Amino acid sequence: MAVAPEFIEELRARTTLSDLVGKRVKLVPKGGRLAGLCPFHSEKTPSFYVNDSEGFYHCFGCGVSGDAISFLRESDGMDFMEAVRYLADVAGMAVPNSAPQDSEKAEQRKQAIDALEFAAQFYQKNLDSPVGNAASEYIRSRGLDAHIISQFMLGYAPRSGLYPSLQQRQFPKELIVQAGLAGVSERDGQPYDYFRDRLMFPIQNRQGRVIAFGARALGDAQPKYLNSPEGPTFSKKAVLYGWTQARALLRQGLPLLVVEGYMDVIAVSASGVAATLAPLGTALTEQQIQLVWKLHPEPILCFDGDAAGQKAASRAIERILPLLEPGRTVRIASLPAGQDPDDILKSEGEEGLRRILTAASGILDTLWQRKFSEYRLEDARTQPGARAAFWADMRQLVKSISHNQTRTAYLDDVEYRIGAMRAALKGARGGDSGSYASGGYASGGGYQAGQMVRTRRPKTGVRVQYQAVLALLVRFPELFSDFAEELAMMQFEDNELEITKKQIIDLLIATPDLDEAAVRYHLEYSGSNTVVEDLFGSDMTARLDASFKQGSTGWTAARAKEILSEILDRLLHKTRRTGQAPSNRS
Ligand code: UTP
Ligand code: MN
Repeated sequence: MAVAPEFIEELRARTTLSDLVGKRVKLVPKGGRLAGLCPFHSEKTPSFYVNDSEGFYHCFGCGVSGDAISFLRESDGMDFMEAVRYLADVAGMAVPNSAPQDSEKAEQRKQAIDALEFAAQFYQKNLDSPVGNAASEYIRSRGLDAHIISQFMLGYAPRSGLYPSLQQRQFPKELIVQAGLAGVSERDGQPYDYFRDRLMFPIQNRQGRVIAFGARALGDAQPKYLNSPEGPTFSKKAVLYGWTQARALLRQGLPLLVVEGYMDVIAVSASGVAATLAPLGTALTEQQIQLVWKLHPEPILCFDGDAAGQKAASRAIERILPLLEPGRTVRIASLPAGQDPDDILKSEGEEGLRRILTAASGILDTLWQRKFSEYRLEDARTQPGARAAFWADMRQLVKSISHNQTRTAYLDDVEYRIGAMRAALKGARGGDSGSYASGGYASGGGYQAGQMVRTRRPKTGVRVQYQAVLALLVRFPELFSDFAEELAMMQFEDNELEITKKQIIDLLIATPDLDEAAVRYHLEYSGSNTVVEDLFGSDMTARLDASFKQGSTGWTAARAKEILSEILDRLLHKTRRTGQAPSNRS
């Protein structure tokens, strides 16, 4: 129901905001205004101000602001109409019945939904009939069973037949066209079915009513996916595919995944790995992310690992940053290039998808890594100015967070990372032969070249020690900061291991709080999987256990730290003595 703007104006004017707020917050005069402890964040000194003359409040601590209606929505969880009725009651005003044209529109919407739901049933029936054979076979070939097909109400639109059925049901032509179920031929003015020979995905609103369709071509017809046109029931940017099904799955405590496509939503839901939602062929809008947060405080957004996907991830993050609040954040999962979650389930099964979800990074981790490579900082030839620009960019981005304390926390994190990066660089400059960011500065050759010079394989014993260092580092990434300097200075005399070492260092500099699963995931997808497999093969574990006389179940970070320090000492001592990897440290 819509209420006339004039009524809302009048209602605001007749409401004394401080009376309303004063019922929940003790307000005292401060600097000529009324102030109190902010009800929206925890604080010890009042920074929440109420301005009665304009009917607005603002908190200088956390940045919230609004009027009487938003106050009731935020503090009491009322929806818009509930807040309006409450305030009207207090002000002694009667909420007017909605205008006649509003009820007419509401009636039209209701009829359009009836037509759309009739169509959904029509498509479902056709899927089960002989005309739907090919479609039905196609769905089965994609691994969907009867249960999931009915849960998502999948159907088949034959080449014709919907329009006459709708007419038989007395739905007027204009309504059918407006609902996006028929088009009108320009040639002869005759209506024709909008969706023809397509697999149909009904799109439901949050109440579970069908408000539109997505439709996949079965052959090579273009476009591959056709959506209902926007209309009285359907605005693409305000709807998410899979809402009701996701809400049901979330009750089982699953994580919430936001994907790109219809088939991804269905396949992931069917797998039981996560509840899933998708926007409708567009980037996630602000409105959609707010909706996603109604279901889950920390949804995981999925992006293709290719360049376009990574760009899309950056853009999404930049759109989400200003909206972050306690209880409203996201994680970002990066898929192998060119694969969507449905493909992953096919090729690697539920475990594969779970692994990707577990490895999802925090919003700041992702942003840091993205920008780190955008500024080409992994290339040691990059000028220091690029680092400065990168740092400035990161600070600037994080400053867009509106929620004060969240912004402060993120800024602190950025400063910490900048500090860690500088410390590691200082350490790395001690040597001159090719570990993180060191070789390039001195020789102009860049570390890539530096890494490739040595091709001689080290003695097996030494190689095992290098492997042990990497294995411990991957298993206990939290130890990295303690050894960053030594690691950066050392040169593993084995290309493969040296490259992996550098990858781990880059990764942990870019993202200090990755856990083991995340580090392994990144290494595996950046091409070091054989090395990593080697590190964690039973052979290696056994050798580690044998050399350090401790069962793998007994490994702790503290013990790992001792061992790491011991090995590094040994290795550094050796290289210093033999002069193999010059180090002018100490
Ligand atoms: P994709 O082309 O990646 O398809 O489009 P998909 O989801 O993997 O579909 P399958 O697995 O081939 O069946 C991703 C999403 O982009 C939108 C749709 O929402 C689709 O699910 N899209 C794509 C369109 O809206 N129109 C198109 O022509 C193509
Ligand atoms: Mn797909």
